Amino acid sequence: MRTDDDSWEITESVGATAIGVAAMRAYESRRPDALFHDPYAEKLVRATGSDGWTAILDRVLAGGDQVGSQYAASGMNGTMVARTLYFDDYMNAAAAVGIRQVVILASGLDARAYRLEWPYGTRIFELDQPQVLAFKARALAGDTPAADRREVPIDLRQDWPKALLDKGFERDLPTAWLAEGLLRYLPGPAQDLLFERVLELSAPGSRMALNMGIGMENINPKLRAQREKMMAAAGIRLKMEELFYPWEDRTDPRDWFAMHRWLVTEADPVEVLAARGRAVPEPTGPDMARHILMTAISS
Ligand SMILES: C[S@@+](CC[C@H](N)C(=O)[O-])C[C@H]1O[C@@H](n2cnc3c(N)ncnc32)[C@H](O)[C@@H]1O
Repeated sequence: MRTDDDSWEITESVGATAIGVAAMRAYESRRPDALFHDPYAEKLVRATGSDGWTAILDRVLAGGDQVGSQYAASGMNGTMVARTLYFDDYMNAAAAVGIRQVVILASGLDARAYRLEWPYGTRIFELDQPQVLAFKARALAGDTPAADRREVPIDLRQDWPKALLDKGFERDLPTAWLAEGLLRYLPGPAQDLLFERVLELSAPGSRMALNMGIGMENINPKLRAQREKMMAAAGIRLKMEELFYPWEDRTDPRDWFAMHRWLVTEADPVEVLAARGRAVPEPTGPDMARHILMTAISS
């Protein structure tokens, strides 16, 4: 049950969703035909000490058993791979046009600050709940980020712009914003407020990338049941849909940014994978298409 001021550790509530997506990045990174390499993902998942996620990861990596192969073939896994590729491309494109200020909203176990090649002088702010960032700092204590990485521990329903400015955010610099795997965990009005704040802090030339599942409650019931059974078998009681706020109570982010005169483009996750030579098996394709991958560029 969500509340307006709930908070969590990495292994609890919304925090645990960050482990699930990192587990998928870990799995992809070990595939012989991997489309990206995130060497930090597996380390982070194991460092959480979550028996359930570690067990699932081990089964997937070992291959073969039914639980592992179901997980690996799920639409959710395909969507995670597609979104990782899409947002990696987004960051690289932002760097190529000279953007040197990056803000990752709800960074969770995202290791882009460590694993991407950033131009000299890039500053990356990571915002997430204090306990999530504290866990990540412990787990990656021996690693060196590839940019000037700054943590901003805060709840994104609170006054995060002030916290961001206090950490050295420069409002006259163009910024590449990222909201990956965040929006459905915010109520509609909190999403609008987040976007308004992004707009206020965005110098000309800034851009925003985000993803959001539309009607994920309605995804193929067989696939959903499989996923829940697999997680229950590993002792994970996470039901993402119970942590989500309704899709219907919010403005479609594509409309929101277009209404504010940002140039909006979007991608289909199935096509993102197809462009890299990975076909998506039925029936997962239609479920993946319920996912928005969007970039908006300020005018
Ligand atoms: C599904 S994970 C995504 C993490 C990361 N962006 C990624 O894709 O790997 C969701 C993340 O959103 C964070 N989050 C959700 N609501 C938040 C809030 N109100 N304030 C701060 N962080 C929040 C969680 O702590 C968690 O790390």
